[in-house]
Amino acid sequence: MKAVIPAAGFGTRFLPATKAQPKEMLPVFDKPTIQYVIEEAVASGIDDILIVTGRNKRSIEDHFDKSFELEQTLQSAGKDDRLKQVRDITDLADICYVRQRDQKGLGDAIYCAKKHIGGEAFAVLLGDSITKGSVPCTKQLIDVYEKYNASAISLEEVPREKVERYGIIKGEEVEKDIYRIDKLVEKPLAHQAPSNLAIMGRYVLTPDIFDKIDETEPGVGGEIQLTDALSKLDSIYGNTFEGKTYDIGNRFEWLKTSIEFAMDDNEYKNDLIEYLKKVISQN
Ligand code: G1P
Repeated sequence: MKAVIPAAGFGTRFLPATKAQPKEMLPVFDKPTIQYVIEEAVASGIDDILIVTGRNKRSIEDHFDKSFELEQTLQSAGKDDRLKQVRDITDLADICYVRQRDQKGLGDAIYCAKKHIGGEAFAVLLGDSITKGSVPCTKQLIDVYEKYNASAISLEEVPREKVERYGIIKGEEVEKDIYRIDKLVEKPLAHQAPSNLAIMGRYVLTPDIFDKIDETEPGVGGEIQLTDALSKLDSIYGNTFEGKTYDIGNRFEWLKTSIEFAMDDNEYKNDLIEYLKKVISQN
């Protein structure tokens, strides 16, 4: 299976940090966000990845490209650990790029992948969210897709006051954690939302989605919404992800995620706790 990572947004919520670099390159603890996303795809058995980029794409390409000078410098300095880290990034997967010409929405960004994908089911991982779970989120969706032979999307319950930020579904739970979806609404008002089950940025889609996107008129925000195209599919399932999704497109979430990931690192954990205690006591 191939994967598509849309990474063409302007990242306006993160200005000025995103003025000259994509938000997908913002580091979370010690790695750019998009590297975690690609690692999830690889851990789910995918090694052919198409990144849909927009302006300021160069740093993403450079990050996953070979860096002769850097490798040579690290090699002559005998920094073997660092050298391995740098080489591992390049060897992660086969990555290619396509550029979304106009910012016409997530649906349009996915449509840019049509030629590369061909007639097979494929995964979509939004470039500004990270997931953590014992089974990778995308792998869980591949399993649902294979079981039900239909598109599958990851879901998470969100507080009612946050439904306006997400695509929200209505569905029937057909087995533990799996929903047959009969309605999807992009960013509904809280009182109009059909539930509080939100689409969390991971999808496995059947290739008929491309025709559905083609038939989709601009929706919320005047953009071609993937959620609107998904509602046109004959059959679609949702999986409440066993794990946690981190939405990096939001400053506070990004900050919290960096702290949480640093806490997972034994080298930093204790020092970070001491430091945070000190900061808290001073405030
Ligand atoms: C996109 C999708 C939305 C989904 C969200 C998850 O919205 O359109 O359905 O719930 O990602 O992060 P965006 O965050 O790009 O506005």
